Amino acid sequence: MERPVITISQLAEHTGQEVSVRGWVYNWRKKGKLRFIVLRDGFGYLQCVVFRPEVDEAVWENAVSLTQESSLTISGLVVTEERAPGGFELKVSEVEPIHIAPEYPIGKKDHGVDFLLNHRHLWLRSRRQHAITRVRSELEFGIRDFFQSRDYTLIDSPILTPAACEGTSTLFETEYFGETAYLSQSGQLYLEPAAAALGKVYCFGPTFRAEKSKTRRHLTEFWMVEPEVAWLRFDGLLDLAEEFLSELVSRILDRCSEDLKRLERDTSKLEPSTSRPYPRIDYGDAITKLQELGQEVEFGDDLGAEDETVLANHFDRPVLVTRYPAEIKAFYMQPDPEDPSRALALDVLAPEGYGEIIGGSERSDSLEHLERKIAEHDLPREAFEWYLDVRRYGSFPHSGFGMGIERCVAWLCGIHHAREAIPYPRTLNRLYP
Ligand code: 4AD
Ligand code: MG
Repeated sequence: MERPVITISQLAEHTGQEVSVRGWVYNWRKKGKLRFIVLRDGFGYLQCVVFRPEVDEAVWENAVSLTQESSLTISGLVVTEERAPGGFELKVSEVEPIHIAPEYPIGKKDHGVDFLLNHRHLWLRSRRQHAITRVRSELEFGIRDFFQSRDYTLIDSPILTPAACEGTSTLFETEYFGETAYLSQSGQLYLEPAAAALGKVYCFGPTFRAEKSKTRRHLTEFWMVEPEVAWLRFDGLLDLAEEFLSELVSRILDRCSEDLKRLERDTSKLEPSTSRPYPRIDYGDAITKLQELGQEVEFGDDLGAEDETVLANHFDRPVLVTRYPAEIKAFYMQPDPEDPSRALALDVLAPEGYGEIIGGSERSDSLEHLERKIAEHDLPREAFEWYLDVRRYGSFPHSGFGMGIERCVAWLCGIHHAREAIPYPRTLNRLYP
């Protein structure tokens, strides 16, 4: 019998028809003459019911042979069934096993996270991981949409680079035909010249930090999106970050409601982040506030993870912390004209303990200032000559930021650790699979 082969997402268009669906056994159970097989095909879950008196003996035998995660084509009649997950059920007439899987390593019992991460290639099939992966995909699409629809040009920055962007302590080194190359920590330095060529640019790719931190927020390989805009000043940068985040949160709430439900995300906690303005707080005021709250932090310190959490807990949406001491920030930042000991630096802290999701600044447009900073930071001057050319040939005010995708996904999904927000995480202790 000729039946259309459809995906589970297309069931609604085929009610009352005979169809075939291909997928894997998510789980199964038996009840007398009934066998219930929950099929997953990457697009959804479908309860398939095999009723022994109504099928050939061979079909029944095939159904009985199926184990968890066996692959198969299953055929039958699509009926609406309110009690079934997704609202549809398949009344099975044929079962064609493709491959019978041996006992599946990921069972119903609780596994330790190390076990799950060692089986990440299989763990991705689980419902939660499926939902997280979908949110990540939508977020990345939304980010591209945000910039493309505002006339930004995508610049693919290199991964192999001759120099550090964010300080030398977290560089991965590799031999490059007799020279030393480093894996890129950020595409920013390559975006600044591109902003002079194209006005509004962004890059979006993997970045690398040899961070020995074992926190829930740190990965050694993570994806970052970075816009860089000619003529944009610090105040405009704050507006851009706010517009960017509020639009993305709205989009995810809109388009990923099923996934967020699956993740049991309390979306009322995300709602406030869809509207502007976001709170803004000067670094100095943030320190005072933290001290009042009993945090041991002093003016001049960088904010620790706990400081960030304590501060962000005061707000129902991301908070923009501005004007950090220049000393604790990267070499390329523009000094605050009102107090040159401060940099026109921005960190955006997500609520609910997710910490810094965006870091950015206005960029210094002065050749002398940058030459001095490069010396002070002990950076190899030769490797930055090309970067300094941006200040030699038509220097211009410009600003930009970077957002880490995994931290943002973790926040949106309400998952504890950023490592679950990327399909194949790389951390201090993990390079497998
Ligand atoms: O604050 P960062 O270091 O800023 C930059 O790299 C700038 N060059 C960006 C720019 O202005 N174009 O990093 C930006 C963001 C952080 O806010 C965080 O979200 C993420 O990148 N990030 C990490 N995410 C996961 N693991 C790590 N080890 C991360 N380090 C930074
Ligand atoms: Mg930062």
